[in-house]
Amino acid sequence: MEFNILTLCYLIGSVTFILGLKMLSHPATARKGNLIAAAGMTIAIFGTIFLYKDDAGNKLHNYGWIFGGIFLGGIVGALAAKKVKMTAMPEMVSMFNGMGGACAALISIVEFDHISKLFSGNATLYPPLSQLGPDTLPAIPTGHILIIILGLIIGSVSFAGSMIAWGKLNGKVKDFSFKGQHIFNIVLLLVILGLAAYLVGWKPAASPIIFYAIFALSLSYGVFFVFPIGGADMPVVISLLNSFTGVAAACGGFLYDNKVMMTGGILVGAAGTLLTMLMCKAMNRSLTNVLIGSFGGGAKAGPAGAKSQGAYKEISLSDTAVVMSYAHKVFIVPGYGLAVAQAQHACHELEKILESKGVEVKYAIHPVAGRMPGHMNVLLAEADVSYEKLQEMEQANEEFSSTDVVLVLGANDVVNPAAKTDPSSPIYGMPILDVELAKNVIVNKRSMKPGYAGIENNLFFQPKTSMLFGDAKKVLQDLIGEIKNL
Ligand code: TAP
Repeated sequence: MEFNILTLCYLIGSVTFILGLKMLSHPATARKGNLIAAAGMTIAIFGTIFLYKDDAGNKLHNYGWIFGGIFLGGIVGALAAKKVKMTAMPEMVSMFNGMGGACAALISIVEFDHISKLFSGNATLYPPLSQLGPDTLPAIPTGHILIIILGLIIGSVSFAGSMIAWGKLNGKVKDFSFKGQHIFNIVLLLVILGLAAYLVGWKPAASPIIFYAIFALSLSYGVFFVFPIGGADMPVVISLLNSFTGVAAACGGFLYDNKVMMTGGILVGAAGTLLTMLMCKAMNRSLTNVLIGSFGGGAKAGPAGAKSQGAYKEISLSDTAVVMSYAHKVFIVPGYGLAVAQAQHACHELEKILESKGVEVKYAIHPVAGRMPGHMNVLLAEADVSYEKLQEMEQANEEFSSTDVVLVLGANDVVNPAAKTDPSSPIYGMPILDVELAKNVIVNKRSMKPGYAGIENNLFFQPKTSMLFGDAKKVLQDLIGEIKNL
C-alpha cells in the first residue's frame, strides 16, 4: 500500500515538473509554473522520506540529519532568493547549479564507498576479497558502476565549473588562459574518460585511488573548462553546466531506481541542452567551441573596439520629449543598463504617457539582452508591461524601418552593427537588433564606455543617432516630466 502511495507521489512529482516547465515558457504563467513544480518536488521529497523502503523493508532513519539539512538549506536558499538583486541572478543560478552538481558527485562518492566495502568484505553480503581469486569476484553490475562514475564526472565538472562561473560573474575570478589550453583540456578529458573506462571494466573496489583521481581530475577539468571563457559567451556555459547537473542528477535516479529523480534530472538536462543550443544560435557560436572551452576569452576590445569612431552628437531632454511625443511609432530597446538602474517602472510610465498622446509604443527584446535568458522579459513583467508589447528580435527587425524613434535604454552589444559588418569584431556573427533602420535613434547610457563585450559601438557615431547621457531611471523620470510639460 505504501509503495503505491509513493509511486503516486513520484507520478505527481513528474507530472508537475513537466507542467511547470511548460508554464515557464510564457511570462504570464511562469510564476505559477514554478510554484506547481515546487509543490510536486515537495510531495516527492516527503514521500521518499516517509514512505520509501529498501529491498529488506527498512525505512529511512536519520531524521535529525535529514530535517536539519532541509531546514538549513531551506533558510539559506529562501534568504538568498529574497535578497538577490535582479542583476546578480545569473550568479545565484550558477551557485545553486553548482550545489546540484556537488550533490550528484557526493552521491557517487557515497555509493562507491558503499560498494567498495561490500567488495572488500566489510559487509556480510560478499566474502572478503582476500578469499577470492580474481576470477571469482562477485559481480557488481557494470551498469551500476558506470552510472556511479558518470555521476561523479559530470557532477564534479558541473560543480567546479559553476563555482568559477559564479566567481567570474561577480568579478572575483578573472579570465585566465594559456597557450595550448585547447589541447590541454582535450587531453585532460581523455585521461578522465580512460581512467573511467579502466575502472568500469576492471575491479572497482580495488581501485579507490583511481576513483578519487577521476574525482580530482574532473574538478580540475571543470575549472580549466570555464576559466578562459569570458565576454559574451558566459551565459551559454552556465546553461550548459545546468544541463550537466541535470544529467548527473538523472544518474542518481538510475542508481537508486528513483523515477522522479530520473524524470527531474532528464528534464533539466534536456531543457538545459535546448537552452544552450538556442543561446548558441542567438550568439552565433558553435556548441563544439563551447565544449572545448576555447572561445570568448579574448572578447575584450579587439581591433574594432580599440579605435574611436569619431564624433557623436548629444540630444537634450526637451528635444527628446518633442521627438518622442510627435512620433507615430516608438520602439524601446531595453538592455543591461535598464536593469542596473532599476528603471523598468519609469519605462512603463513613459510608455503610458506616450500612448496617451497617441504614440504606438513597443519593446524590442534581444534574446541575450541583460545578463540572463529572459532578463528583460522578467524586468518588464515586474513593471506590468503588457506581454503583447514585447517583440522578439526577428519581429522587431522587420518593423524598425517603419519606426520613427528607437529609444535604446542601457543596451549596447545587442545593437552593435559591428556584429554584421566587422569580421574582426569579437561579436561578429551575433544577430543584433537593426535599430539603425529607424528614422531616429536615441541612446541612453551614462558615458561612452563599452558594454559587456568591451568593444566600441559604431551606432553611437552614426548621423541618425543621438546620445542622451545619464542614469536610465533619472533620465526617464526627467523625460516624463518634460513630456507632461509639453
Ligand atoms: P551591454 O552590452 O552590457 O551594455 C549595457 C550598457 O548599459 C553599457 O554600455 C552601460 O554604459 C549602460 N549602463 C550601465 N548602467 C547604466 C545605467 N544605470 N543607466 C543607463 N545605462 C547604463 O548590455 P546589452 O546590450 O543588454 O547586451 C548584453 C550583453 O551581455 C551581451 O554581450 C550578451 O552576450 C552578454 N550577456 C548576456 C547574458 C544573457 S543570457 N542575457 C548573460 C551574460 C552576458 P555606461 O557604462 O556608459 O552607462
